[in-house]
Amino acid sequence: MSLNLLTLPHPNGRTAIADYSRDRLGFMTRCAREFEEIVPFQFGDGWYCLLTNPDQITEVLKDRLLFVKAKDLQMLHGLLGTGLLTSEGDFWLRQRRLAQPVFHQQRIHSYGATMVDYTQRMLQTWQGGQIQDVHEAMMRLTLNIVMKTLFDQDVADGEANHIAHALDVAMYWADQQDEGEPTLTPGNVGPWFQQSLKAITRILPRSLQSTGMEDMDRQYQEAIALLDETVYAMIHHRRTHGTSDQDLLGMLMQIEDADDGSRMTDKQLRDEVATLILAGHETTANTLSWTWMLLANHPHVQQKLDAELKTVLDGRSPTVADLPQLTYTHWITKEAMRLYPPITELTREATQDCEIGGYTIPKGTTLIASQWVMHRHPRYFTEPEVFNPERWDNDLEKQLPRGVYFPFGDGPRVCIGKSFALMEAVLILATIAQKFHLELIPHQIIKLQSSITLRPKNGIQVLLKQV
Ligand code: HEM
Repeated sequence: MSLNLLTLPHPNGRTAIADYSRDRLGFMTRCAREFEEIVPFQFGDGWYCLLTNPDQITEVLKDRLLFVKAKDLQMLHGLLGTGLLTSEGDFWLRQRRLAQPVFHQQRIHSYGATMVDYTQRMLQTWQGGQIQDVHEAMMRLTLNIVMKTLFDQDVADGEANHIAHALDVAMYWADQQDEGEPTLTPGNVGPWFQQSLKAITRILPRSLQSTGMEDMDRQYQEAIALLDETVYAMIHHRRTHGTSDQDLLGMLMQIEDADDGSRMTDKQLRDEVATLILAGHETTANTLSWTWMLLANHPHVQQKLDAELKTVLDGRSPTVADLPQLTYTHWITKEAMRLYPPITELTREATQDCEIGGYTIPKGTTLIASQWVMHRHPRYFTEPEVFNPERWDNDLEKQLPRGVYFPFGDGPRVCIGKSFALMEAVLILATIAQKFHLELIPHQIIKLQSSITLRPKNGIQVLLKQV
């Protein structure tokens, strides 16, 4: 017989909301440390459970029918419609099968040269002694790469600006619907300082919030309209000038439904395109931004990276063939994603009453698997707060229980772009690090903005030093 969830120790409902809203990551970490492996808590009428047992995390991520993406993702529906990230059931399965071939290893490899080429183009505009917002630079670079590799299109500056602006406004809007963020100072990855004012505003009913919210909603609608206009223009251009089957948009346009022979409507295409643009650049840009911050704060790691690049590349540009030799560069990327997972938690909603770990999970409960919590869990990582790429030696990932390290998720909804992203991060890192060291501008406050993704809120200002 299974047990009632509420017999488990859990945080007090009232303080939980305030704590969560002020500092979601800190709240989750405290729950994981102070309570049992399942931590139930209530927000309003909704029940949530943080899971910290890796087997239970795996079980939930594996069953896409019993556990569907939770309602919080609906924030993204306005922006992404029913693309791969937000759809469910048979519709999702069909779209996933259609999109899968474009992410096959061989095709991904053919994108390597583009990734390096676009990075070099960016470096031609960089000079020693310049100050850069490296997050902004990484966002633009990964956006250009995703547009080129997935849609075989050089993005005209105007279009890229429209898309970058639309995504920025939309993500900012989503953040305003969501929660607070702690603060980091260079060289000091803690303690967390709370950003309470904004958080408190967010948990007030809409009617009590300042009119600023309406303004933001309007800007959000305008941003979506701009995104639609740009993406529909790309689709129409293809419809009138003929499609190619060399990229995802072309493939999605040509593919016919096996049952009725119909093709995707413009709206379906728009949703997949918007999803791949968003999912395909923001997370990789975040990984790289955090990596640069960590490298700047850990000169001994930078030195080892330099040594590997000298041995393997000796000044020439990296290619896909070099990837197996760039072991330390891979470890740096993995370790950056451990400490700063670009997506900090996955949420799933139980579609029926079910049982986890001997407890009844009522239908409608939101289950949370937090990368932020698991990646820093002292049970699985020695000195979990320390940036130590060497920990990935001896195939640590394979030795860890499944459900401990999952920056790309797990189960059927695992990131479709995982190989793409890993290859891209390593190639970009290797290309830039051979030319420049990035030093943090002193005294800046680097804030974590943890909403849909984990990004540096006000960017990361660096001084470029030519190598
Ligand atoms: C470091 C970079 C990246 C990280 C950390 C990341 C992480 C994730 C995670 C955690 C999920 C699963 C979400 C869930 O289960 O709720 C996901 C899904 C997804 N990602 Fe990524 N991602 C990255 C890069 C990319 C790239 C480069 C692309 C495309 C080019 C991409 C496309 C997608 C798509 C389409 C989904 C939805 C898959 C589905 O449900 O079928 N991602 N990603």
